[in-house]
Amino acid sequence: MKKLGILLSGRGSNFEAIARNVQAGKIPGEIAVVISNKEDALGLQTAQKMGLATRFIPSKGKEREAFDREVVAVLKEFQVDLVCLAGFMRILSPYFIRAFPGRILNIHPALLPCFPGVEVQKQALDYGVKFTGCTVHIVDEGVDTGPIVCQAVVPILDDDTVETLAARILKEEHRIYSEAVRLLLEDRIRLEGRRTLLKK
Ligand code: GRF
Repeated sequence: MKKLGILLSGRGSNFEAIARNVQAGKIPGEIAVVISNKEDALGLQTAQKMGLATRFIPSKGKEREAFDREVVAVLKEFQVDLVCLAGFMRILSPYFIRAFPGRILNIHPALLPCFPGVEVQKQALDYGVKFTGCTVHIVDEGVDTGPIVCQAVVPILDDDTVETLAARILKEEHRIYSEAVRLLLEDRIRLEGRRTLLKK
């Protein structure tokens, strides 16, 4: 059974969606460990309630790579095959990325390469685009730059607020993150340059 390691810093709704799909047998793997750099992260509590192994690893005051070394050690201890960033509010060091080459996924609430960074639902609304969405991508050494695995599009409506738009996007995040995890765990993806293509 392939093992997932989840990294989160907050609410953890993407983690929960993945966990539910694992439970429902829709993802061919198991969640080996859920790690948070925030002790009070709601997602960590959810993971505990689900009976999953959890770890709180504080990041505050630590150098990026020192923190990452601790996280990588735990992921290796649990023999994790695929790392899922699920609202993990930290940039990974090259050390981390090289420890799991091509085996780290992230979910971003915009259609990359539009609107990288943070507060991106607000960025999309303020810019005036008519459609936005979400992206699951493989993490490389840039910020929000890695090869795209799945995307979903949502419309922006005239009466949208950041909250209503974020909720519409989140629903799609929950759907496509599990889809991307499944594709990677089933080894269905091959890379051609920046493009991820389905293996025949
Ligand atoms: C999501 O919008 C995700 O796209 C972004 O951070 C948010 C995390 O939400 N990276 P949650 O913690 O999964 O509920």
